[in-house]
Formats: sequence, structure tokens, C-alpha cells
Amino acid sequence: MKDFDGKIALVTGTTGIGLATARRLAAGGAAIIACGIDRAANAAMTAELDSSGAEALVMAVDVSVPDQVRDAVAAGVERFGGIDIIVNSAAVHPYGTAVSTDFDTWNQAMSVNVGSIYLTAHFGIPEMIRRGGGAIVNVASVQGFACQQNVAAYATTKGAIHTLTRSLALDYARAGIRVNSVSPGSIRTPILEKAARGENGTDADVEAAYRRFGEAHPIGRIGEPEEVAELIAFLCSSKAGFCTGADYRIDGGLTAGIGVK
Ligand SMILES: NC(=O)c1ccc[n+]([C@@H]2O[C@H](COP(=O)([O-])OP(=O)(O)OC[C@H]3O[C@@H](n4cnc5c(N)ncnc54)[C@H](O)[C@@H]3O)[C@@H](O)[C@H]2O)c1
Repeated sequence: MKDFDGKIALVTGTTGIGLATARRLAAGGAAIIACGIDRAANAAMTAELDSSGAEALVMAVDVSVPDQVRDAVAAGVERFGGIDIIVNSAAVHPYGTAVSTDFDTWNQAMSVNVGSIYLTAHFGIPEMIRRGGGAIVNVASVQGFACQQNVAAYATTKGAIHTLTRSLALDYARAGIRVNSVSPGSIRTPILEKAARGENGTDADVEAAYRRFGEAHPIGRIGEPEEVAELIAFLCSSKAGFCTGADYRIDGGLTAGIGVK
């Protein structure tokens, strides 16, 4: 018996942490409903999960659009019979201060990074209740605690995810739905690669940047998406039955080192 046999998991984001999490949950026996905007990544995820023998429905979905999330939830439920787990990993990472960020960019960050969590909850929680409960994990960031300069919109969304996580946890605890967030430090994924290349750079030495980012973490390296996926899988599992309404940092000691409590 594997840890997610018989479970149905909706995952947003089909690269990086979302992909690693879908792999981990599928390896544990879960059927995967995946939503991502990157069609090439969706195709690669479909091919990989299909060839591993997993049950998977990977859909091109803009998770900031209500009708698309509603339809994706409905398609997943029709295919597999319900939803037990939701992992919200999709995000955009715009750079900018309040002055340099235009209103469309600000609103896009809010609706992709935070609005999508509301939408998967809005359409997904009634399905989880029909199954007798479940677990939601939202991917936040250390930037929700201690932000850098020039990421006003992104950091704001990550703080909002911490609050939405607590709110959902309180509202649905008695329905048997546990809701937690994880806050990673620097993790080797496409978002970090973009950061390594810089706002305008394309030919940066990405590995050198990763070493530099790693040095900022007390543990001396950046994290791997599989390490975050393992924490998410634990929080989704029955072993985490008393965990709800909390954030779990996975940051190589980064925030311990800068005194954020
Ligand atoms: N990698 C890091 O260092 C790091 C650190 C802290 C937090 N995070 C968080 O981890 C999560 C996953 O990011 P990642 O590191 O795996 O990077 P990533 O870029 O691989 O993942 C983000 C995914 O979101 C998808 N996406 C963006 N807009 C979308 C939309 N409108 N609809 C559907 N999908 C959309 C992208 O296509 C991509 O697959 C994000 O929430 C990110 O903020 C990452």
C-alpha cells in the first residue's frame, strides 16, 4: 500500500515544484489533475506521468481565470471521481517597486499567485467535502516574511498566501480539510533560473549565481524541488493529521539567519 493510493490530487504549475510534487504524489499512488499555462511543460508532464504508469489529466489552464479553473475542476472530477488534495504552486514573479510596477502587472500577480488559491478552494473544496475531507498545501515563500527590494507585488502575494492559508484552515477544519503553506528559500527551478539570469540578462552564469544564492543560506546551497515536494507530500498525507493553519519553512536556515521569528 502506497501513501496516496486511491487519492486524487489537483496540482497547479507544471514545472519546478509543481512538477516535482506531481511526480511525488503520483509515485505514492495518487491520480493527478494538473493545471498549467505552459503547454510545452504540460506535454512533457503528461508524457512522463503516462510512461510511469500514473493516472494523470494535465490541462492547459490559466489559473487566474475563474471559468478555466471551474472547468478544470469539473473535468478532473468527471475523470477521477473527486478531489482529495490540492497543491497550489503556480505563480508569476514580477520585479519592481510600487512605482515601477504597472497596475496590470500588480493585478496579474495578485490574481495568479493569490486569486488562483481562492479559485481552487472555491471550486475544489465542495468536492473535497463530498469525499469527507482532504488537504490543501499552498506554496508561499520566505518573501512572505522577509522580502527583498524590488519585488513589491510578488512579496505581497506571498504574505497574502500565509493569511489565506490560515483563513481556509479555520473555515474548513471541522469539514476535515487541513490547509497549510510551505515557504521555500531559493530552489533550483525555472523561477530561480530567471532570477539567476537577472532582470535583463540571458547569458549569465546560472550555476555561479546558484552558488552565490546558496552561500546566502546557512546550509550553504540552494534547495532542490524534490526536497520541497517531500515536505508537501508529508503535509498532504495522513501522517500530518494534526497539522493545519501553519506555514512550514524550507529555506536552509535562511530566515533563522536573519532573525525573523
Ligand atoms: N524556486 C524558488 O526559489 C522559489 C522560492 C520560494 C517560493 N517559490 C514558489 O514556488 C512555486 C513554484 O515555483 P517554481 O519555483 O516551481 O517555479 P516555476 O516557474 O517552475 O513554477 C511556476 C509555474 O506557474 C506556472 N504559471 C504561471 N502563471 C500561470 C497561470 N496564469 N496559470 C497557470 N500556471 C501558471 C508557470 O507556467 C510555471 O509552471 C511558486 O509559487 C513560487 O513563488 C519558489
